[in-house]
Amino acid sequence: MGTFARLARRALETETPVMVQIQELFRGTKDAVSLAQVGCLLACLLLGFFISFAFHLHLEGVVYWQPPKKALDKVKEMVWDPSVSCYGTDEGLPELRNALIEKLHRDNKLYKSSVMVTAGANQAFVNIVLALCDAGDRVVMFAPYYFNAYMSFQMTGVTDIVVGPSNPTTLQPDADWLKEVLSKKPVPKLVTVVNPGNPSGTHIPESLLKTISELCKSAGSWLVVDNTYEYFMYDGLNHSCIEGDHVLNLFSFSKAYGMMGWRIGYIAYPTEVEGLAEQLLKIQDNIPICAPIISQRLALYSLETGTEWVRDKVKDLVKNRALLLDALTPLGLDSVKGGEGALYLWAKLPDDHQDDFKVVRWLAKRHRVVVIPGSASGGPGYVRISFGGLKESDCEVAAGRLRRGLEELVRDGMVE
Ligand SMILES: *[C@@H]1O[C@H](CO)[C@@H](O)[C@H](O)[C@H]1NC(C)=O
Repeated sequence: MGTFARLARRALETETPVMVQIQELFRGTKDAVSLAQVGCLLACLLLGFFISFAFHLHLEGVVYWQPPKKALDKVKEMVWDPSVSCYGTDEGLPELRNALIEKLHRDNKLYKSSVMVTAGANQAFVNIVLALCDAGDRVVMFAPYYFNAYMSFQMTGVTDIVVGPSNPTTLQPDADWLKEVLSKKPVPKLVTVVNPGNPSGTHIPESLLKTISELCKSAGSWLVVDNTYEYFMYDGLNHSCIEGDHVLNLFSFSKAYGMMGWRIGYIAYPTEVEGLAEQLLKIQDNIPICAPIISQRLALYSLETGTEWVRDKVKDLVKNRALLLDALTPLGLDSVKGGEGALYLWAKLPDDHQDDFKVVRWLAKRHRVVVIPGSASGGPGYVRISFGGLKESDCEVAAGRLRRGLEELVRDGMVE
């Protein structure tokens, strides 16, 4: 018998059961798809669920639209341009970074930040963790949390993750709790929030964001704010950003411009902090070197199309949200929260059906509608419902299935 080469604990000990169970379910759903020979429409619908679910496996929600046509057309003409096949500067194309700095001024009121373009916001987050945290450092998140951020901590050895509570009514991070935790030793190295939230869709108002930022500043902790869904705000609410020498902001092109597969995100980090840019660059040079050039071009041309294009797409999502809110009524009014922003509603399952994985599996198998178990985000007994991945007509079908499923769940339980 030889000695087997062993796998790293950093990977093995990173949260996986959630993924494994979702994959199991995913395989079940796939079989359901192959049964769908009853007509093209149904097949397409099932495929829609299948596709949106497949995306969930790797990241988060999706939107149903593609990037602006004008931007795609321009990029199509660029493929023979030699620069597209070369490396670019690590921190991103100068034209794109300039355009982003302008955008940060205009849309986010961030005036003292530098920009690093990354291969999506998940990679941006990993860069940040590697640049700011050492293995063993304490970090803070709030439940329900964005699971990929949790995993990024775990796989870089930052395993002292303290998960704080959210206000039970608003789902906003609990600042009083944060104050307590920041006053204890070891002082957390980094605090992270998502605004508006994934998986909750909760908006963090400017005043609360300021409070969180000031608490972090006086404790000497970094604050990392994920603004992936900055344009996904509803009901007249406005998204705001916060700036400071201890604050890093993350952004993404994936949802706003329908660029999920192009993998472009960026970090806005404080220019003044000595050494930060150098450390971020060191890490960037070892992971993607630079974000794909063709994708950066598409991001630049999409930005030129303007944020009005995005707002125009986003404004119709409230129709999907209304359909799904209606579908969730069997759970009771007080059970459904969030949805002020982003693409998500966060719903509590009935008290006698708190095994979220079981309910999700049952809904997929019996009612052919797929939602995400809250356990994946530190919220057992809840489910996350995305209202961004389907066109209104498809969403209507999904909502119908969800409603029938939940009605049956509440009335008869999980009958086979
Ligand atoms: C959001 O911003 C708009 C435009 O600046 C403003 O008219 C509106 O009152 C703001 N909404 C809230 C809830 O603050």
